[in-house]
Amino acid sequence: MRFFIDTANLEQIKEAQALGILDGVTTNPSLMAKEGITGAENILKHYVAICEIVDGDVSAEVIATDFDGMVKQGEELAALHPQIVVKLPMIADGVKACKYFSDKGIRTNVTLVFSAGQALLAAKAGATYVSPFLGRLDDISTDGLHLISEIRQIYDNYGFETEILAASIRHTMHVIDCAKIGADVMTGPLSSITGLLKHPLTDSGLAQFLLDYQKGN
Ligand code: E4P
Repeated sequence: MRFFIDTANLEQIKEAQALGILDGVTTNPSLMAKEGITGAENILKHYVAICEIVDGDVSAEVIATDFDGMVKQGEELAALHPQIVVKLPMIADGVKACKYFSDKGIRTNVTLVFSAGQALLAAKAGATYVSPFLGRLDDISTDGLHLISEIRQIYDNYGFETEILAASIRHTMHVIDCAKIGADVMTGPLSSITGLLKHPLTDSGLAQFLLDYQKGN
């Protein structure tokens, strides 16, 4: 399973990268705004800054909602850096744009996916990644993990190469459950990654080892 961090915060990206287990970054317009990154020029510069930190795919989202606008913005984003993956919304023009970019060999991430049917369309349009939003489904009392397993089954049935990027991950158990189902990638906040490190028996065991070492020296 590959690990992406879902943030536009450069310090958090650096921290995850320093752990040596980071495979990429996803962003969205809300995450950019949260970091105070506004204006087209600053946003483009920020994507490049992210690419320079992480050695992996960086999803950059279009703002346009019509085909021509998505193609224009997507081409501009893809030209920024070889690591950029163009993130497109799951709407009709997003599916068309996804097909356009796949035919041109430009990698895509179809986002805001909440149903197996949407995931099937994304795969048929040649998406590199599909992003089902697990946490947001859980938020409305719908089983987000069930969606991930439905997509896994459908993609395996037909040998679709689109990778399942489990998104809107909120905590460590989401990561573990997605790994059990066989999601190809997960994207979540830094806490969902560093949280995997923690176990009280590791802490108490280490403290005891160090204490016993001190006694003998
Ligand atoms: C995915 O690419 C999105 O950026 C993200 O995972 C959304 O997560 P949220 O529901 O926590 O905002």
